[in-house]
Amino acid sequence: MPRTDAFPAPGAVEPAVELAGVSVRYGPAKQRVTAVEGVDLRIHAGEFVVLVGPSGCGKTTLLRVAAGFERPATGTALVRGGTPEPGRGAGVVFQQPRLFPWRTVGGNLGFALARHGVPRAERPARIAELLERVGLPGLAARRTWELSGGQQQRVAIARALAAEPELLLMDEPFAALDALTRERLQEEVRTLAARLGTTVLFVTHSAEEAVLLGSRVLVMAASPGRVVAELPVPLDRTATTDVAALRSSPEFAHLRGRLTEAMRRP
Ligand SMILES: Nc1ncnc2c1ncn2[C@@H]1O[C@H](COP(=O)(O)OP(=O)(O)O)[C@@H](O)[C@H]1O
Ligand SMILES: [Mg+2]
Repeated sequence: MPRTDAFPAPGAVEPAVELAGVSVRYGPAKQRVTAVEGVDLRIHAGEFVVLVGPSGCGKTTLLRVAAGFERPATGTALVRGGTPEPGRGAGVVFQQPRLFPWRTVGGNLGFALARHGVPRAERPARIAELLERVGLPGLAARRTWELSGGQQQRVAIARALAAEPELLLMDEPFAALDALTRERLQEEVRTLAARLGTTVLFVTHSAEEAVLLGSRVLVMAASPGRVVAELPVPLDRTATTDVAALRSSPEFAHLRGRLTEAMRRP
């Protein structure tokens, strides 16, 4: 696949994320699985890039590389010009919430805020605001195991947003949520990223979600995992966009159709 230079941010000296010839292999020599092979991927600061593809094509693996949890067997991975390190810079939302069960909801968020250097006195207000954003107002004192799976996932999203990261890595974060909550959080993440200029790498199975959120969608295929197609999403979306109208527009339907097609025959 050719290198992507679709969104050259003016004055940007280096891409926010750059994977060059990245291959990742799992397991011992005899049962080695090549999860992804030779992936080139450049994401400019402020871009919202979506990865789609069948289960097992290496979407999670690529996110783990960008997060610094996985080192490529070949090729290089750079985040803002440096080797990615876990816990430094990127906010990560996994498919599962992975909260600290011994802390309250507020305690989980407070921990992230503390690591981000927010003074103790400011944390309660920030926690309240974060919970408001993800539609869980007033639940700071609750235990995480008192919440439903979807509510826990929303706390995990709030935790990732707490540090206002420059890079947000999200792995099917809304898959387990009901439709209304999903729409609400799609909108929240999209407008927040746009407002803060956050760079986002987002994984989903849904062509609808990909077109709604992405400024660019990369289609992957399996065996070995690789990027096989790219679809720019030239929809005009701002904080004031009427999302319901956008979803039912002919442009939206056209792009969703093209993406669905590309996902069917990689
Ligand atoms: N820890 C692991 N050990 C062995 N194989 C793995 C491991 N994680 C993922 N794989 C394999 O790597 C491939 C890509 O997996 P993954 O990145 O999770 O794909 P996706 O997120 O697109 O479903 C799959 O074949 C999967 O079985
Ligand atoms: Mg996955």
